[in-house]
Amino acid sequence: MSFSEDVAKGLSGEQKKLPSKYFYDADGDRLFQEIMKMPEYYLTNSEYEIFSTKAEAILKAMGVNSGAFNLVEFGAGDGFKTKVLIERMLELEAQLTYAPIDISKDVLDQLEENFLERFPGLNINPQNADYFEALERLGSVSDLPKLVLFIGSSIGNFSRDQSIDFLKTLNTKLRKGDKLLIGFDLRKNPKIILDAYNDREGITKAFNLNLLKRINRELGGKFDVEAFDHYPLYDPEAGLAKSYIVSLKEQDVYIESCQKTFHFGAGEAIHTEISRKFSVAEIEEIAEKSGFVVTEHFFDCRHYYVNTLIELV
Ligand code: AVI
Repeated sequence: MSFSEDVAKGLSGEQKKLPSKYFYDADGDRLFQEIMKMPEYYLTNSEYEIFSTKAEAILKAMGVNSGAFNLVEFGAGDGFKTKVLIERMLELEAQLTYAPIDISKDVLDQLEENFLERFPGLNINPQNADYFEALERLGSVSDLPKLVLFIGSSIGNFSRDQSIDFLKTLNTKLRKGDKLLIGFDLRKNPKIILDAYNDREGITKAFNLNLLKRINRELGGKFDVEAFDHYPLYDPEAGLAKSYIVSLKEQDVYIESCQKTFHFGAGEAIHTEISRKFSVAEIEEIAEKSGFVVTEHFFDCRHYYVNTLIELV
């Protein structure tokens, strides 16, 4: 479905919703990069700490040596943390082809330029695609062994069923011995989690409301963005952070490309994102349900976050 169709459908239902994949236009990419630098957004620092302090152990468990392989990364973003692993891989004289996949062309162009500056001669094959298109292409990549990265807790933006479906499909594209390193944000004090989605400076608010600005820019939407607010919550029972955009008054908004006016009641919420938080038992269940075996968990020192290596046996 196109952006316009997704918006029309999402704003027409009983509970209004918009898919979080539309956060990531050029402004959204920039705001997400700012989020990753915020002190409240502990996820990036935790994963960076794991990669910096445990790279040797991770690469050993991944079986990286001087042989040739494909390093495929889903949702590569700016590749900030991946650089740490690639640096160590190249020190081991590994012959890798790096295939970063991202829905945002801007961020991929930046990544390519940045990586080639840092690692001249690196074989890099960027793919501008969403996860599902990229999955389709994966089977035809090459016969070399594959190491797949799905880091940054991107898996948390899927529902439980979507994450199992995604990993099951990935499983069918991989071969025995191929490995997958996934970043999971762990359950912890709910206040710490809520703060990560409710920063004082309002960067997350701007990131969420950018969805309305993007509809205005690309679809001829007439949203008065000031008449909406960001509302995050965390449900510790379900391990689920949820973000909403809330209408601050009763209002009608016309969107040209949908040729339709949408009505918003005062206080009505548009659901825009889920960010799931996991226990180790849940991670092991997801791996098992999708036909993988857990090789090893790598935790940060606070046990806020884990990178789990799973493999096809
Ligand atoms: C990309 N993803 C893992 C982020 C998250 O934590 O769910 C997106 C994000 N949304 C608000 N802040 C960050």
